[in-house]
Amino acid sequence: MLFKSLVRHCATIYQRRFNHRSHPRILITGGCGQLGVPLAKRLRELYGRESVVLSDIVRPSDELLEQGIYRYADVLDLKQVQELLVNNQIDWLIHLSALLSAVGERDVPLAMKLNIEGTHNILELARKYKCRLFIPSTIGAFGPDSPRNPTPDFCIQRPRTIYGVSKVHAELLGEYFHHRYGVDFRCLRFPGIISADTKPGGGTTDYAIEIFHEALKTGSYKCYLRGDTRLPMMWIDDCIQSIVSIMETPSNQLKQRTYNVSAMSFTPDELAKAIQKYKPKFRISSEPDDRQKIADSWPEVFDDHNAREHWNWNPKVDLDGLVQRMFAYLEKQ
Ligand SMILES: NC(=O)c1ccc[n+]([C@@H]2O[C@H](COP(=O)([O-])OP(=O)(O)OC[C@H]3O[C@@H](n4cnc5c(N)ncnc54)[C@H](O)[C@@H]3O)[C@@H](O)[C@H]2O)c1
Repeated sequence: MLFKSLVRHCATIYQRRFNHRSHPRILITGGCGQLGVPLAKRLRELYGRESVVLSDIVRPSDELLEQGIYRYADVLDLKQVQELLVNNQIDWLIHLSALLSAVGERDVPLAMKLNIEGTHNILELARKYKCRLFIPSTIGAFGPDSPRNPTPDFCIQRPRTIYGVSKVHAELLGEYFHHRYGVDFRCLRFPGIISADTKPGGGTTDYAIEIFHEALKTGSYKCYLRGDTRLPMMWIDDCIQSIVSIMETPSNQLKQRTYNVSAMSFTPDELAKAIQKYKPKFRISSEPDDRQKIADSWPEVFDDHNAREHWNWNPKVDLDGLVQRMFAYLEKQ
């Protein structure tokens, strides 16, 4: 009798202390964008529909509303996000809200507000409520002084865009909160993410999505980057899997808090060649704009061997697989 009540008492303490549940409860900020929608779908498949709260400041589609809980939350309003965290007993905070590279350069004050102040709010809430925190970073966190081929996890980072500067800020502050306050911060530096059913949000790698739509619509594409501009890229399913994997990895297995992840690297000309296997008449031309300068300062090939060694990062889709998946999806539409 005494033994049983002792066991019950210990279990209660354990549950309170470690917030133990069979599935984590997850809040995604900025969740109606290119990454958030497929991420919420996958997390709901894994942990249950009710375990994921998707939030953003835009009006969600009916389809998105049918998939699970959606809440309005502006990350610049700390109290609003705080209320969501508390009311939904959130364990994992996945912070996706950001202004991307090309749109950030067009509105620097907004990029500073959203990407820097918004991140401060999220870090403070993760500290206060002991949430596991994921913030994505980017190839854009490197700059012209970084080694570009390959670019390792640790090297000079002097980005020349407000997007890159705000992401280095998030990486460093997240790591500081980890060492100073024990926040379980996790960060992946993503390359350009390519998806078929969600739209890109105004990054420098968006051409690699637009090109498929134009290949089907007009049979040709005028690229805003030079044909020989090499950039790291990744298919969306691999990106989503990388987030799930790093979030599921036990904290003591992570030897660092910020990792490069990549899957492939190609140029617009190489992508056009891969497209021509499906559409032999497809033609590409180029008229570089302000995004060329950004791309010229970014990594060409990402070294992600630490992610592969430490938590078994292993992307599945290469360039041919990506082209095949894009056409399979778009032609069905
Ligand atoms: N897509 C890529 O290729 C890529 C590559 C590297 C890193 N990332 C990072 O991944 C994250 C998600 O990227 P994405 O492509 O889904 O971006 P996206 O632009 O498609 O989505 C961002 C979302 O943030 C929302 N948002 C804007 N202001 C907000 C506010 N005040 N409060 C709450 N939400 C707000 C927007 O409505 C939008 O739905 C970003 O942090 C981005 O830096 C993306």
